Amino acid sequence: LTTLSGCSPKEVTSQNNIVIGFSQSGTESSWRKAHTKSILDSLKKNNYQVIYRNGLMDQERQIQDIRSFIAYRVDLIVFTPLTEDGWEPVLKEAQRAGIDVMLVDRDIASASSDLYLSHIGPSFKAEGNRAGIYVNNYFKEQPDREINVLELSGLTNASPTTLRSDGFREAIGREQNITISQTVYGDYTRNKGKEVIRELITNNQLATIDVLYSHNDEMTLGALDALKDTDIQPGKDLIIVTIDGQENIIKELRAGNVNCVVECNPQAGYYVARAIERRLDSDHKQIPHEIYMPETVFSDQGDLDMIPTRNY
Ligand code: AHR
Repeated sequence: LTTLSGCSPKEVTSQNNIVIGFSQSGTESSWRKAHTKSILDSLKKNNYQVIYRNGLMDQERQIQDIRSFIAYRVDLIVFTPLTEDGWEPVLKEAQRAGIDVMLVDRDIASASSDLYLSHIGPSFKAEGNRAGIYVNNYFKEQPDREINVLELSGLTNASPTTLRSDGFREAIGREQNITISQTVYGDYTRNKGKEVIRELITNNQLATIDVLYSHNDEMTLGALDALKDTDIQPGKDLIIVTIDGQENIIKELRAGNVNCVVECNPQAGYYVARAIERRLDSDHKQIPHEIYMPETVFSDQGDLDMIPTRNY
């Protein structure tokens, strides 16, 4: 990627045509790294100049990164908002500067939807729904059994967390015997996932849990690690449903330690590059406000040999 430091904004734009500022939210998972790579590779392939910044899961830092893009007078800003709220001031600054903003992966509160051009990402609510449908189907022959779900949630106030919770609740709400008995937060990281599950084990709070619904694979891997210190057999005594589809979790699915993996597609680059092309190269054509990417489900109910190898 071209390094733009040391150039004045005018020099950069005139020598290299289109300049894109890309602000990523963090590096918390293999999924996130694949997402970053997919976008950077596609932008590079399209010969855009890219200024890339990583907020390292710090909203203030991300806001400063976006401000620096505005100061550079980039042509367009691509940005994964760490959380749902708190972006209005900086997005208004971009709007006043006449710079289009595209949200990728995560979304912001809907009240601010006129502050960005387009959102390109997974349907988190559909993912939560798919996870819930798996649980409903798994226990459909046992309508009289009380099923207790432990929800291992991601970072609070982040759109995948809110929507994966909503979607899951909507699906299991159709069955009277399935309820979420507890929600804990693992911030989408392996360490935190392990820590919170270990705490529940220590306090003997896993004994009555039938299902672990985890909002991402990294936290699931942490939970699996914590379970090694117990006699609970993951995938058998405790049904595990996770979201993302990293290669390391597909391995756990094949080993029988995880029951269902709801895919969250990190390969956003193609969609982002096409949308930018349409917006900037082809005379400011309209692009849809919401662009969802294709996703699927892998589970012990399907043919595990058919799962394509992932590169993340
Ligand atoms: O925003 C998408 C989520 O964030 C992915 O599921 C997860 O792995 C990442 O941390």
